[in-house]
Amino acid sequence: MTRQSVFRMFVKPPAYRPIGAERSLECAAIHTESFAYPWTESDFEQLLVAAEVVADGAIDADEGLCGMILSRAAADEAEILTIAVAPEHRRSGVAATLIAAHLPRLSARGVARLFLEVETGNAPARALYASNGFHEVGERKAYYRKEDASPASALLMRLDLAP
Ligand SMILES: CC(C)(COP(=O)(O)OP(=O)(O)OC[C@H]1O[C@@H](n2cnc3c(N)ncnc32)[C@H](O)[C@@H]1OP(=O)(O)O)[C@@H](O)C(=O)NCCC(=O)NCCS
Repeated sequence: MTRQSVFRMFVKPPAYRPIGAERSLECAAIHTESFAYPWTESDFEQLLVAAEVVADGAIDADEGLCGMILSRAAADEAEILTIAVAPEHRRSGVAATLIAAHLPRLSARGVARLFLEVETGNAPARALYASNGFHEVGERKAYYRKEDASPASALLMRLDLAP
């Protein structure tokens, strides 16, 4: 039995709702656990107050943040800026449920096309996006820097949203 499955047996599932700048520190903490080049609390503060940014969080039974998704909308297009789940909450459907909660909020703003970039080597994220209907529309060579500073390519993915 994995650590995550034991954890799930005893823990109430998270609630999914919009988040604001009051969650900046928690977003930065999850980002730090998730990416080689994490965004700071101040980066999140700026994003979470921006009118064009749509942000949703997964909130656990203790009111703590266990995952978040942020998108930037412009006219009828949007881009996922980041999605991350705290390591102890992974593989329990949190990211998939965050996406499911997020898409209707984008649609309600008139977004018809959603884009994202994902590192080619990020198998969990690629599987997540594929299973949620995103398809590949391009590749950007040497778009990212890995932890060891070597370059990594990005796949550009797109999802058309129901009106
Ligand atoms: C990618 C990430 C957000 C997935 O979050 P999660 O809550 O664990 O994902 P879910 O449990 O909702 O998984 C949904 C689907 O995604 C895929 N998936 C998720 N994690 C996976 C993994 N480690 N390996 C393979 N597939 C995976 C599976 O298809 C899964 O469906 P299944 O559980 O029915 O097989 C999480 O691993 C994470 O925070 N990673 C670090 C940050 C990151 O890379 N973000 C994406 C940047 S583009």
